Amino acid sequence: MIKKINTFISGTGSFAPPRVLTNLDLEKMVDTSDEWITARTGIKERRIAEDGTAPSDLALKASKQALEEAQITPDQIDLILLGTVTPDYILPSTACILQDKLKAKNAAVLDIVAACSGFIYGLSIASAFISIGQYKNILVIGVETLSKIVNWEDRNTCVIFGDGAGAAVVSATTEDKGVLGTFLSGDGSLANLLHVPIGGAKLPLTKENIELNEHFIHMEGSDVFKSAVRTMVNATEHIIQKVGITPEDVDLLIPHQANIRIIEALAKRLKLPMNKVYVNIDRYGNTSAASVPIALDEARRKGMMKEGSISVLVAFGAGFTWGSAAIKW
Ligand code: ACO
Repeated sequence: MIKKINTFISGTGSFAPPRVLTNLDLEKMVDTSDEWITARTGIKERRIAEDGTAPSDLALKASKQALEEAQITPDQIDLILLGTVTPDYILPSTACILQDKLKAKNAAVLDIVAACSGFIYGLSIASAFISIGQYKNILVIGVETLSKIVNWEDRNTCVIFGDGAGAAVVSATTEDKGVLGTFLSGDGSLANLLHVPIGGAKLPLTKENIELNEHFIHMEGSDVFKSAVRTMVNATEHIIQKVGITPEDVDLLIPHQANIRIIEALAKRLKLPMNKVYVNIDRYGNTSAASVPIALDEARRKGMMKEGSISVLVAFGAGFTWGSAAIKW
């Protein structure tokens, strides 16, 4: 009998640039306060990449850790899937740049533009490739340097975002463990609520539109907030039902770290106690595609995934995109 091929996470890694920007630092930059940021978002500090540090540099550090833990060499990677909305260049893809830096010479390469859901989109695509037997080891990454596309004079956005990278090696196994299922969704009709208006091929950069600050992130915060809660509840319930478990079976929920109030509202709707929900937003802010894999790596290093336990990953981001994954360890 042919055994089913499952996808398991054989290694994880993460990296955040060392420079810390605290809420007190931000008080000196815009009209805000530590009290407001802490109460409205749960963020206390975030990491900022130095000038000259590219997303591929952060991704390289996280990827090396993940490979070391998976005990594979770069030439054993069949595919690199890299989620980001802050690529090194418009072209070529950041996955290509990383492939060269990592010397992963046998890997196919692809960027995924799904904002904060980028890692879960990557995990889902990786799992599909592995299940059909096309690839054995896939490197899935979420990386951002949002500090470079944020308007540091706009208090509505600059207090929220941070930089970082998370990576996972996903590998084929015939053991009864790994990714139990994934769910992906999107709604492009809401694109204007969270976007960078110019700099693409529709509206290339000009001196005039740069002066209007349209090359930075624009966000309708409270509309995004409501959609985030709705879609992440929907995605979590969907995956729980799809893989045939109950909310009580979830040992750890790893949500996208966008806002502590979004995370608490999600936990409340799902009737999950907060001790089953991983939170690190206080230290990193919203790192978009990097948020879920950084949290995943931290939780693994803290020994929170016992053998046989079940974790659910869930994210929501610009697009809108959203998705979830259930994993048995
Ligand atoms: N400091 C002080 N006051 C502020 C700040 C600040 N940093 N930012 C906004 N305010 C003010 C506003 O100007 C507003 O003042 P007003 O009433 O006089 O107009 C007031 O605070 C309230 O603003 P709201 O937007 O209603 O505040 P809200 O409670 O919604 O919190 C926040 C704002 C934190 C942005 C919240 O809406 C949020 O987290 N939204 C979701 C963001 C998100 O999840 N993004 C995910 C995707 S990211 C991606 O895909 C890349």
